[in-house]
Amino acid sequence: MAFIVKKKIGGGEYFYLNENKRIDGKVKTKTLAYLGKNRKDAEEKMKKILKSKIEIKSEAKQETKKMENKNSGKISIEDMAVFCKRKGFVFPSGEIYGGFAGFWDFGPMGVELKNNLKKEWWKYHVYQRRDIVGIDGSIITHPQVWKASGHVDSFSDVFVVCKKCKKASKIDKAELGKVKCDFCGGEFDEKNAKDFNLMFKVQVGENGESYLRPETAQLIFTDFKLVQESSRMKLPFGIAQIGKAFRNEIAPRDFIFRNREFEQMEIEYFIKQGADCIYEIPDEKMLVYSAEMQEKKSNPEIMKIKEALKMGIIKKGWHAYWLATQFRWFKNLGANPENFRIRQHKKDELAHYSSDCWDLEYNFPFGWKELEGIADRKDYDLSQHEKFSGKDLKIFDEESREKILPSVVCEPSIGVERSFLVFMFDAYHYDKKRENIILKLNPRLSPIKASIFPIIKKDEFEKIAKDVFNDLSLEWKVNYDESGSIGRRYARNDEIGTPYCITIDDKSVQNKDVTIRDRNTTKQIRVKISHLKDMLRKLLNEEILFENAGKAVK
Ligand code: GAP
Repeated sequence: MAFIVKKKIGGGEYFYLNENKRIDGKVKTKTLAYLGKNRKDAEEKMKKILKSKIEIKSEAKQETKKMENKNSGKISIEDMAVFCKRKGFVFPSGEIYGGFAGFWDFGPMGVELKNNLKKEWWKYHVYQRRDIVGIDGSIITHPQVWKASGHVDSFSDVFVVCKKCKKASKIDKAELGKVKCDFCGGEFDEKNAKDFNLMFKVQVGENGESYLRPETAQLIFTDFKLVQESSRMKLPFGIAQIGKAFRNEIAPRDFIFRNREFEQMEIEYFIKQGADCIYEIPDEKMLVYSAEMQEKKSNPEIMKIKEALKMGIIKKGWHAYWLATQFRWFKNLGANPENFRIRQHKKDELAHYSSDCWDLEYNFPFGWKELEGIADRKDYDLSQHEKFSGKDLKIFDEESREKILPSVVCEPSIGVERSFLVFMFDAYHYDKKRENIILKLNPRLSPIKASIFPIIKKDEFEKIAKDVFNDLSLEWKVNYDESGSIGRRYARNDEIGTPYCITIDDKSVQNKDVTIRDRNTTKQIRVKISHLKDMLRKLLNEEILFENAGKAVK
């Protein structure tokens, strides 16, 4: 129960909102907020605080109710947004002002998951390969870059307004006259349809003007020769980049699926025009949906990517290689392979620079949607930049002993936010027995790697727990949690995907060991404190099975 208390400090009166709670059998008082110096204001403030507390609680209750009925299957994108807000993953940007369409903030859990995801992408694509190096280009660059790339003239959607509900939508040029409003099924006002360039203009200095980059790719092209020369790269090779991109989307929607500010993880992979793929195609099987299958209105077919190449469904070895490689990245990090397919763009869908494009798609709760585009850009961009800058971007090819302009055979380009959603959807489980949401994230992605609990607040337990926290936090983001019952602390950590909970109890004082509890199975083992860091590292890197990491607790 919450109530107002008045405190007299140094002759002044101050009002606070307190709450009594029964914790471990004892009633404890906690101060919730400072309410000011005046009783009337304090009462008003209290009403507001209690109202927002009730709203948050009822959102959580509604979400849990829905999950109880579902047990399996995905939750809706709206429910995912509620969950992400409640647990500190993603908040509407400028929420206290009513939010700002297409912009989102990542909270304490979200920023950790997002950073882990980007780190894993960089490790897989840059550290673990000898043919790819990275850059970090500027967000605002020379305006001529966007003229040369074609974005100034062609990077636009068709802006239409529904005659019935008056909502604005974006459609592709090819869809004009063929599609209806997504919100109400009404007809679009086609007479007033207009081209809408998606780039954000920015003022630079007093009179200059440029754009926020709508893709990270162009910085790779403009830096191409500098990278090749400074890193002595030989074809075939790639340049990778992770960073912000901005698009003034007409209708941002589906939570963080389509935003105005987002991040991309992109690779431009350069080859000598026509050179064959030199890598073995990863042995991956998945749903394949070619342009021909779509035109014939037949269903996607499950097949090995290698087979799709042999059968001529995928035309180039390089394309098959990159599609399988990207799919494997998701699989390795625990995404459900059944939710993925590859789909070829039909002729009228191809971007202005692309001669062939396959998307890696994911089965979102609102349907199959693009997760990653893997386009063949040929030498379009390098030759455009040669033309506009007047600079020679050709490089010396040792094999043919001549200067050549390389070709981008594949451009794996993926949004961080869409990948974030994939891992969240595939990790989200409601456990009926535990009556709790369990976020079964791969430990490498989990925001918090371990949570450390002294079983009760007692100096000797807290001393060990704090030492453990100080040691583990040198390497990972770990939590120290001392409030509530052990069951509540486990449940709280299950919901945010913490893979391991470490408890310090009376045996820890005698034996200098702790229990580790596994999120997915709730099994527990005892591990000596002197081995804890090593063991946790092995568990997080999936180098050891949980059962083999310590002595089982019966
Ligand atoms: N350089 C190529 C390129 O930018 P794209 O298909 O326009 O290609 C690549 O974008 C990826 O970026 C998409 O597959 C998607 O994951 C992400 N993306 C694009 N627009 C987005 C938006 N408005 N919000 C969130 N992610 C977006």
